[in-house]
Amino acid sequence: MNDQPLSGDALLQRFQALDAFLMRHQALWRPRPFILHRQLPWELDHPELGAWLRERSLEQAEAAHTQPECLPAPAPFPVLASRSAALSRLGQLLQHQAPKLPARFSVDVPGRKWQQLLAFAGSLQFRQTPQHWLDWCAGKGHLGRLLAHDGRPLTCLEHNPQLVHDGRQLSQRLGLAAQHLQQDVLAADASDRIEAQHTPVALHACGDLHVRLMQLASRAGCRQLAIAPCCYNRIDSPDYRPLSAAAQASALQLSLDDLALPLSETVTAGARVRRQRDLSMARRLAFDLLQRELRGVDEYLPTPSLPPAWLMKGFADYCKDLAALKQLPTPAASLDWTRLEAQGWQLLAQVRNLELLRALFRRPLELWLLLDRALYLEEQGFAVRLGSFCPYQLSPRNLLLLAERA
Ligand SMILES: C[S@@+](CC[C@H](N)C(=O)[O-])C[C@H]1O[C@@H](n2cnc3c(N)ncnc32)[C@H](O)[C@@H]1O
Repeated sequence: MNDQPLSGDALLQRFQALDAFLMRHQALWRPRPFILHRQLPWELDHPELGAWLRERSLEQAEAAHTQPECLPAPAPFPVLASRSAALSRLGQLLQHQAPKLPARFSVDVPGRKWQQLLAFAGSLQFRQTPQHWLDWCAGKGHLGRLLAHDGRPLTCLEHNPQLVHDGRQLSQRLGLAAQHLQQDVLAADASDRIEAQHTPVALHACGDLHVRLMQLASRAGCRQLAIAPCCYNRIDSPDYRPLSAAAQASALQLSLDDLALPLSETVTAGARVRRQRDLSMARRLAFDLLQRELRGVDEYLPTPSLPPAWLMKGFADYCKDLAALKQLPTPAASLDWTRLEAQGWQLLAQVRNLELLRALFRRPLELWLLLDRALYLEEQGFAVRLGSFCPYQLSPRNLLLLAERA
């Protein structure tokens, strides 16, 4: 049977199953295998799994990164992987044919982004024909223009003045009657911008920004809306504040670090970005070994984030300069830099492989967060469908909430 989007009773049922899964295995997904944890607490309970993962190479970790559930790792990995896959299963929203638009609509839109926009627009199906689109955190308003290509009214809210300006120009060039308003959607007066006849859409509006939309649209009496959330950790509180009654009743407490877990995959990052990221991390891990020795203290020492130019330095200069920055003793002239550098890469391979266990919980946690939003919207009187709107490879944030009042 094909997977279906979730709706009705299935929303709460799935939420509760995910909640139990995440609660039960917190010890496996909360600790981040980074410098702070030389050994992860769970490795004591599952030494065979820990040792197996630590022996693997960086290339092997990279190959398994987007599909950790396929890894033939020792117990309890396979059982967790199949439970994670079952709980993460979610169908695609029904797609209708996207309108064939003249090429000038996609001017200034990168190819991948345009594909996302078409998929988002193609997934919107409401019983009532939208009267007035409201593009929430619109950027230049590409999504809004795609939806309002037939001349329906469009309001784009965005707080970056440059994007507002550029969006206005793009709409004018297409002869669309769009309003591009500079608006901080978190400000008190944002509620003045949203009206009952609006159909709000939000593509990849971060944490608080899309939550604010759900709250204001509910209050304003909007009949329908569509949200593809992202960056669950961009919130203005130290911990996650659950929205729905079910999530409020859950014992699961989520820190900002936890909220970053669903965002930790790198399907769309290019090879160059990944190489830079690995180099930077391998160096940090090597420096961590060095600083422990220089200080004679076997403890992690926080280091500031460094400008990219630091990665252009040779390894030894990088370490010496960072040691000076942290006011540590000068490394001995006899230090074997080649060996230290290799140790950094070896640690990186271990980190990346150990992360694969955590990765099994990425999608379940994301779905838990989305279902909290879905259940909240249900409490506000909406019927909700939750499904994917585009392939994961096009955007890992490919889940869409469609809400409409009965
Ligand atoms: C990830 S981008 C998404 C833009 C657009 N929806 C898209 O998919 O291309 C998030 C947008 O939210 C805007 N934004 C951030 N904080 C905001 C705020 N407080 N009020 C309004 N817009 C905000 C950013 O400037 C950015 O354009």
